Amino acid sequence: MTNYRITGARSAAGDPLQLNIVDGRLAAEPAPDAELIDADGLLALPGFVDMHTHLREPGFEASETVATGTACAARGGFTGVFAMANTDPVTDSVDRAAHVAELGREADNAEVFPVGSITIGLAGEQLSPIAAMADAGVKMFSDDGRCVMNSALMRRALELSAAHQVVIAQHSQDHVLAGPDAAADEASVAAELGLTGWPWAAESTIIARDVQLAELTSGRLHCCHITTAESVDVVRWAKARGIKVTAEVTPHHLLLGSDRLSGLDTTFKVNPPLRGSEDIEALREALADGTIDVIGTDHAPHDLSAKQGDFAHAKPGMLGLEQALASVVETMINTGRMTWADVVRVMSTAPAQITGTTNTQGGSLRPGEVANLVLVDPIRRAVVDREKSSSKARNNPYHGLELPDPIEMTFYSGHLSYSRR
Ligand code: DOR
Ligand code: ZN
Ligand code: ZN
Repeated sequence: MTNYRITGARSAAGDPLQLNIVDGRLAAEPAPDAELIDADGLLALPGFVDMHTHLREPGFEASETVATGTACAARGGFTGVFAMANTDPVTDSVDRAAHVAELGREADNAEVFPVGSITIGLAGEQLSPIAAMADAGVKMFSDDGRCVMNSALMRRALELSAAHQVVIAQHSQDHVLAGPDAAADEASVAAELGLTGWPWAAESTIIARDVQLAELTSGRLHCCHITTAESVDVVRWAKARGIKVTAEVTPHHLLLGSDRLSGLDTTFKVNPPLRGSEDIEALREALADGTIDVIGTDHAPHDLSAKQGDFAHAKPGMLGLEQALASVVETMINTGRMTWADVVRVMSTAPAQITGTTNTQGGSLRPGEVANLVLVDPIRRAVVDREKSSSKARNNPYHGLELPDPIEMTFYSGHLSYSRR
C-alpha cells in the first residue's frame, strides 16, 4: 500500500501540520518511499462520520449500492457511514447486519456501520434481536423511514440501549397526525401549493415523548433529522434536565427552505419536509450552540421513476453526502456562526463519540491513529452539477447552486478514497 507525506496543510485551528501515512496509519516520521502530497493552502481534518446514510443495498440497487453510496461518502470527505436499515430485506438480524458490513469492506471506500432495525421488518410490532446484534457489534438501531409509534416498544428498546451501550435513533414523526399523504410543511407552503400539510407538532410531540422515555430508562436516544424550532426547544429542555439525548440536522434542512417547492420539483420532496425561515434560523442557532450535536446527511438516493409523476406521489428523499460540507460551510462558517473546529466537532468527533466508533473514526490526526482524514480547500467555490456525482441517483437538491466546493482529497484507512487532482 502507498505511503504518503502530506506537507503544507493546516489544522482546523490553523496550526501547520506535517502528516505522514505509513501502512494505513498516521506516523511521526515519513516512510522512505512516501509519495509527496502538496497540501499548501488546505486544511487537514479528521474524516467525517455520517450517522444517517441510505445505501439502498440490498434490495434497491437501481437507486444506490454500497459501492456507489460509499464512493459518494468519499467524495464528501466521509470515512465512516451508518447504513440505515430500510433495505429489502430489512437489517433486522445479525446475519443481515454482517452482510452489509461485508459489502462495505468489499467496496473499501469508507467504513460501513450497519444500523439494525428497532423492529422486525420495520413493522413496529416486535423488537428485532437488539441484544444479539449489539453483541455482534451493531452500534445503532433505527426504523428510519418510519417512526416507532408504540411507546411500550420504544421503552423496551431504550432499556436495551442502556444495557448494551447502543444508540436508538428515532425518525420522529407521528404518522397519525402527519397522515400518509403529508407532503409539505403545513406552516409555510402546503396550502398555497395544494399539498397535504405536515404539521410541526407531528415531530416535536414524538421527541417530547421519547426524551421522557429516555429519562425513564436511562437509554440513549438520538433524534434523527430535527427540523423545527419546537423540536429544538424540546431537545434543549431535555439536555438541561440531564437526559441522554442527541440530535441531528441534515445539510438540506440547514440550507434549503420550503420556498424551493414553488415549482413542484419532486427533487425537493423530503421527509421531514423543508421548512420555513424561522425554523431554519432555529436549527442554525441550535447547531452553533450545541443543542444539535451532529450533521446527519439522510442521503436518500432515488431512481428516476421514484421521482417521476406529481409531487404528492413522488418518493421523499434527496442526496446529501457529496454536498454536506458545502452546506455546512455556507450556512455556518460563511455566516460567522461556527469555526472549522466546530465543523470537525459536528461532522467527525461528535458522531464518532455518540456511536462509540472512536477506535477508528473522529480522531485528532495524531501519530498512531488510523489514517482517516480529509483535505479541504476553505475558499474554493463552484456551481453544483448533479452529473458530477458518484451516486446512481440524480435527486440532488443543490444542482445549479453556486456553493463552497471544499473536498480536495479523502484518505480512508490510509488509502486515497477520493481525489480531485
Ligand atoms: O426523505 C426521506 N427519505 N426520509 C426518510 O425518513 C427516509 C428516506 C428514504 O429512505 O428514502
Ligand atoms: Zn427519517
Ligand atoms: Zn433517513
